[in-house]
Amino acid sequence: MKIALLGKGKTGSKVLENKTHQVIAFDSKNPPTFEKLETFDLIISFLPGDVFKSFIPLLIETKLPVVTGSTGFEWPTQLDQTLKDKKISWIYASNFSLGVAVLKQMLAKLSAAKEMFSTHHTSIHEIHHTHKKDAPSGTALSMQNWMKETCSVTSERTGDVIGFHELTFDTGSEKIKLSHEALDRKLFADGAIWAAEYLSKNPTYGLNSFQDILERTL
Ligand SMILES: NC(=O)c1ccc[n+]([C@@H]2O[C@H](COP(=O)([O-])OP(=O)(O)OC[C@H]3O[C@@H](n4cnc5c(N)ncnc54)[C@H](OP(=O)(O)O)[C@@H]3O)[C@@H](O)[C@H]2O)c1
Repeated sequence: MKIALLGKGKTGSKVLENKTHQVIAFDSKNPPTFEKLETFDLIISFLPGDVFKSFIPLLIETKLPVVTGSTGFEWPTQLDQTLKDKKISWIYASNFSLGVAVLKQMLAKLSAAKEMFSTHHTSIHEIHHTHKKDAPSGTALSMQNWMKETCSVTSERTGDVIGFHELTFDTGSEKIKLSHEALDRKLFADGAIWAAEYLSKNPTYGLNSFQDILERTL
């Protein structure tokens, strides 16, 4: 596949390391245009969210499949319908970790089993690097949603930690702990490439979440 990569910063640069596909990157010095993009099979974005949002009309114009990990913006309300009408397939994720997707399945199982215990307390602790702006992390909030209950959520900001999440399910007489640790930003690139390969084989019109696509395949 010939992939146009929008943004080659901390995360996009990891997509460039992928040697399975031909990846050509665009950044501020070489911004994407319709003429440049129309020679590609698919677009992956790890642009800052506001920049990605400003490119949405251009990306629709190309009609290419798009896989985007850009975060920190509101999606236009009509985008899903527009993409469906034009038969264009997009996948988005705030976290492209395949491991977190598996964790979601495990938490669904744990959530379904919680009624078996007479009492329990669920807590989530997350650790990230000091530059992370939001706390708790979006993933910690998602984990709480996946447990379908309010959890005690604590956050820690230290060093260059890419991402650590741990859920503790404590019944008083036993504990279940499930944790996920991101070791290399490559994992986000791998998830985005997985989504790109999925779309190349399975066109899925509209704005699709990575989690929904994975659930169809796990
Ligand atoms: N979904 C996930 O799994 C996941 C994981 C990690 C990060 N993210 C998200 O991905 C996004 C990027 O994160 P990052 O840490 O990789 O950012 P970063 O290191 O700051 O990189 C941003 C890239 O975007 C380019 N860019 C900025 N403005 C541009 C413009 N106007 N036109 C063209 N290119 C432009 C930059 O190029 P210049 O240097 O030339 O400006 C740079 O290559 C963020 O929204 C982040 O939250 C998502």
